[in-house]
Amino acid sequence: MKRTHHCNELRPTHIGQTVTLAGWVHSRRDLGGLIFIDIRDREGRTQTVFDPSAMSKELFERASSLRSECVISVTGKVRHRPEGTNNTKIPTGEVEVGVTELELLNYAEVLPFPVDDPEVASKVNEELRLKYRYLDLRRPEMIRNLRLRSKVATATRVFFDEQGFLEVETPTLFKSTPEGAREFLVPFRREPGMFYALPQSPQQFKQILMVAGVEKYFQLARCYRDEDLRADRQPEFTQVDVEMSFIDRQDIYDLIESLLKRVWKTALNIDIPTPFKRISFEEALNRYGIDKPDTRFGMELVDFTEEFRASTFKVFSGAIQNGGVVKAMNAKGMAGATQGQIETMTEYAKSFGARGLAYIKVEGGEWKSPIVKFFSQAEKDALIQKLKIEEGDLILFAADQWLNACEILGKIRLYCADVLKSQGKLNIPSDQFNFLWVVEFPLLSFDKEMNRWYSSHHPFTAPVTEDIPLLKTDPKKVRGQHYDIVVNGVELGGGSIRIHQPDVQKTIFEEILQIPPDETRLRFGYMLDAFQYGAPPHGGIALGFDRLIAILCGTPSIRDVIAFPKTAKGTDLMTDSPAMVTPRQLRDLHIEVKAAAKKE
Ligand code: AMO
Ligand code: AMP
Repeated sequence: MKRTHHCNELRPTHIGQTVTLAGWVHSRRDLGGLIFIDIRDREGRTQTVFDPSAMSKELFERASSLRSECVISVTGKVRHRPEGTNNTKIPTGEVEVGVTELELLNYAEVLPFPVDDPEVASKVNEELRLKYRYLDLRRPEMIRNLRLRSKVATATRVFFDEQGFLEVETPTLFKSTPEGAREFLVPFRREPGMFYALPQSPQQFKQILMVAGVEKYFQLARCYRDEDLRADRQPEFTQVDVEMSFIDRQDIYDLIESLLKRVWKTALNIDIPTPFKRISFEEALNRYGIDKPDTRFGMELVDFTEEFRASTFKVFSGAIQNGGVVKAMNAKGMAGATQGQIETMTEYAKSFGARGLAYIKVEGGEWKSPIVKFFSQAEKDALIQKLKIEEGDLILFAADQWLNACEILGKIRLYCADVLKSQGKLNIPSDQFNFLWVVEFPLLSFDKEMNRWYSSHHPFTAPVTEDIPLLKTDPKKVRGQHYDIVVNGVELGGGSIRIHQPDVQKTIFEEILQIPPDETRLRFGYMLDAFQYGAPPHGGIALGFDRLIAILCGTPSIRDVIAFPKTAKGTDLMTDSPAMVTPRQLRDLHIEVKAAAKKE
């Protein structure tokens, strides 16, 4: 019996036709002597009916033995459903198939969790779902995610092809280079002590491709990073990786805006307005306390450094005297927070290095706060005016060095937004997409523990041209030609115009990052060499493809858009990986596992 239709296809126009469907038993109901089986395939489902008066006893008995998720094929005539029994929830809901033949293609044991009820399935423990991922993926919403992912990958490839880009595959057996995250190493059998590393991104190869004259490169590239995992981070993930020669930042903005316009239209039929807004790193921190702001809601941070410079409240004036700032925000409608909730927030702020979280609750026409007694009338007036204080508000303060104060309140802003959202007091529309370019990042950040500078993005990012002289005098002030693309508080991608002059690159490695010359040679010699033979000016960007798809699917976790993701602990529960290998394999790889580290 060869399948004639998919399970989403049959309509009243097919009535009278004999059809064959194949798929899984989605559900079975025994009613009034009849057996109703909903058969499901990738595309949808159809109701089939087994009537004992219209078939052999043997066939009816076989139907009686079917349970959920058995694989079957059925043949029968399409007919109207009886009056009043239409199912308006599915496209095939007006018809049913009166079965005349049934083939059991494979039996299914009782499932560890049901896949037919979205309500139940969405509550199943994620570890169980990952262990039986093949069952989890049968759920229509998971198939929808995979389908969207495939569609967007195709649209992306077509887009880049139209724009004259070449998709070039770069190696995944690479060498260890410090690009930021910890790497996965692969031992080399032929020489003891030698390792490949899996690439964190194709960064170096794509720059070399520019030296090679490829001019416009893209790749849907697999990247590997051994970092702490979260909902938006996996140890292996996919980037839409791009590099171009003879361009400036504006060319990248234009290109990525058109790509995302195309993707949003293809996936969601939404026209997103371009060009996207741009905000400097400094402004993003000042207003939102984070370099990837969610601008779908306000609650912006406000600076009160001048107002509290001479305050009698020493926590504030003292912080300012130490070169810090005072920042505040108004969590509108949160004055009802209990003392316990304020303490939880304070502890949360402290976990990010805050020394405290001063607050004012505006309730019953009063300012309830342990600190207002220290405030002068002028200070109170400034707060009222700049924070637009009203009944029901909760005002929160951070007094610290600029970056700390901003980041602490930035985290508290997101925390309050979550609370207010769950109480129905703040509307953050999930179908609104606020795209932003975050620009003018500092090229370098200072690592206090190591007492040295490190690259904010990566060491190949070009400084803003007019800031180059500051590299040797005031590195903190040097801005990078770096840009991040952010949507609704998610860092979707980042990139930069690169350094293409070997001498500038060498200065960055050796003088600024203080990598000893022999080490620079060892790690990056091939790049510095390549740059000596005619490197064009170039730049690029990489978008996190999994994050992009998660946003389009409206799910907070990229695990929902990756067919076989790892758990938060980095394991694959289905294949039970990582796993031990045999002593023989270890010997071949010249590896000895320390006894203490061995798994019992
Ligand atoms: P960056 O490190 O910013 O830049 O990475 C680019 C984008 O990749 C995504 N991403 C991740 N997605 C899932 N899991 C992870 N562990 C993970 N890490 C990063 C993010 C991020 O914005 N070579 C440079 C790009 C360039 O300069 O052209 C790079 O990799 O969405
Ligand atoms: P204290 O005088 O240390 O008891 O602090 C008084 C109030 O100010 C408490 O609510 C603290 O949580 C808060 N506080 C202390 N240090 C800071 C700071 N650096 N920034 C904001 N609030 C603070």
